[in-house]
Amino acid sequence: MSNVTSIVGAQWGDEGKGRIVDYLAVNSDLVIRFQGGDNAGHTVINDKGKFALHIIPSGIFNPNTMNIVGAGTVVNFNTMATELEAITAKGVAVDNLFVDVRAHLIMPYHCDLDGAQEQNKSEKMKIGTTKRGIGPCYSDKATRSGIRAADLLDMDRLRNRIEMALPQKNRELSYFGLKEYTVDELMALCTKWKDQFGHKIIDTLPVVRQAYEEGRKILLEGQLGVMRDLDWGIYPYTTSSSPTSGGAGVGSGLGPRRIDEVIGVTKVYSSSVGGGPFMSELFGEEAERLRSIGGEYGATTGRPRRCGWFDAVATEFSCWINDFTGLALTKLDILDTFETIKICTAYRVNGEIINYLPETALQEIAEPIYEEYDGWMCDTSKARTWEDLPKNAQMFCSRISELVGAPIKFISVGPERDQIIIM
Ligand code: GDP
Ligand code: IMO
Ligand code: MG
Repeated sequence: MSNVTSIVGAQWGDEGKGRIVDYLAVNSDLVIRFQGGDNAGHTVINDKGKFALHIIPSGIFNPNTMNIVGAGTVVNFNTMATELEAITAKGVAVDNLFVDVRAHLIMPYHCDLDGAQEQNKSEKMKIGTTKRGIGPCYSDKATRSGIRAADLLDMDRLRNRIEMALPQKNRELSYFGLKEYTVDELMALCTKWKDQFGHKIIDTLPVVRQAYEEGRKILLEGQLGVMRDLDWGIYPYTTSSSPTSGGAGVGSGLGPRRIDEVIGVTKVYSSSVGGGPFMSELFGEEAERLRSIGGEYGATTGRPRRCGWFDAVATEFSCWINDFTGLALTKLDILDTFETIKICTAYRVNGEIINYLPETALQEIAEPIYEEYDGWMCDTSKARTWEDLPKNAQMFCSRISELVGAPIKFISVGPERDQIIIM
């Protein structure tokens, strides 16, 4: 592994990023979550137990790995406290966790507004957000009325920031008929956060620079996937940040040329949570079969995930946007009992066949065109080398790699740390 590696979602999210970061973090000095907030649900299963991480980086289980919640993130310290309790209850020390001073704070009004904005939309227009306040918090960041972790370290400055931001927030809350907040009430909350987390809020850039200059191993952990990217995803059904390798540079403080490797994590089929187009989606019994065998239920919200076949057109687009140096294919074992397996290799749009990903409106009317393969019909979960895989599984993985345009670096054949093939 080279020095700086980004691990990003190549599809709609939930590709198994947490699982891959947990595996690679064992040999890393630094793991940086570079965007998003506690809308993530990164599942990690290792010798410490089973965890659903939301904002905490997936390198937390290694005491010698520093874990940074980076400048590009949005942080809810209430849910972080709950998450830390769940981790420490299983004997994991969290002295190695830090939050960058530049991270924005998810305030209670952000969560209230997220819920209300969603509720106000028609069924068709609903984004299906996690209601964790992500969109409203990033909106305030963009309008320069956000509150940052740094503000917790200076109470006078914090009061000024809240006094500036709150009148407009209260007007928005009252528009939706929601309870308004007082400055004192928010100051009390922030004082509690400062007491709990003040010692973890640092300027992480000097640490990151030093680690880089000393040639240490750094992992940049993305949340979600390119199809939910604010610029390149299925807008407006996106999240409010950039989960791409470009976003990794911005959110971690490492210029793009310092990132040596970009690993695109992708399932060998597809899933999506929330609204928006999803070209290779399956319905009825076929979808239910993939969902139940794959355990496709949201790690944050518990919602059933929409499921479908692997979409090579969308993932090739993802490869272009992220410039993958390699792929981590996950959940190969889930297809062990499927007699036939499909890959979407083109779309039909208005009677025309296209092999590139068009903009959202055209995705909504795109019909998938599939290649079909014979399944391998045997257990792959114990495979630890390429040679251990049945021929049909090898052919299927190679075809994905060929269509996407990036070499396979890892194949995951189970949720546990060691259920992986290194290429
Ligand atoms: P993330 O958000 O990208 O980290 O992915 P999630 O944790 O939300 O969803 C991935 C799910 O698949 C989790 O339940 C993982 O434990 C599980 N998982 C990851 N890789 C594999 C695999 O290779 N095989 C199986 N069976 N499960 C996997
Ligand atoms: P990980 O990190 C799957 C989806 C929501 C919604 C859209 C915007 O586990 O891959 P937001 O709350 O960010 O405003 O919601 O993005 N979404 C996810 N889908 N996995 C996640 O996280 C998600 N985080 C958000 O369903 O459509
Ligand atoms: Mg997830």
